[in-house]
Amino acid sequence: MSIILHEVLGDNRGQLVAIEESVNVPFDIKRVFYIYGTQKKVSRGDHSHYNTKQYLIAVNGSCKITLDNGKTKQTFDLDEPNKGLFQDALIWGSMHDFSDDCVLLILANEYYDESDYIRDYQEFLDVIH
Ligand code: TYD
Repeated sequence: MSIILHEVLGDNRGQLVAIEESVNVPFDIKRVFYIYGTQKKVSRGDHSHYNTKQYLIAVNGSCKITLDNGKTKQTFDLDEPNKGLFQDALIWGSMHDFSDDCVLLILANEYYDESDYIRDYQEFLDVIH
């Protein structure tokens, strides 16, 4: 669990970051969604997945992501559009401290499937142990 810094392919016209599946994201990308307009003091996520892996980038603004493997929790600052964070399956994740202008882009290796969610923390601990 660590921040990945993507190369910024900038020039005098501005900046560009390129993400390619299985090259600088460790899975095949089936789904892209983004979160924006998040209210102050709101925590989103607060769940884990059986199979879904995610890759998170705050393409605008900033937020914090707390990842929990059932033993240790780590909080990461996503505050630059070239910073990415990988959240593996069976990791509990929460997204919080969104700036007003935050647009959090999330790439995933699976289509949306509610049955892939683990929304109860005790169930998460039971599954991983
Ligand atoms: P939800 O899982 O509550 O978001 P978060 O984990 O960030 O708190 O999702 C909000 C709604 O959007 C919910 O009705 C499910 C739906 N949704 C999709 O239809 N497709 C998706 O890819 C995602 C992530 C959510």
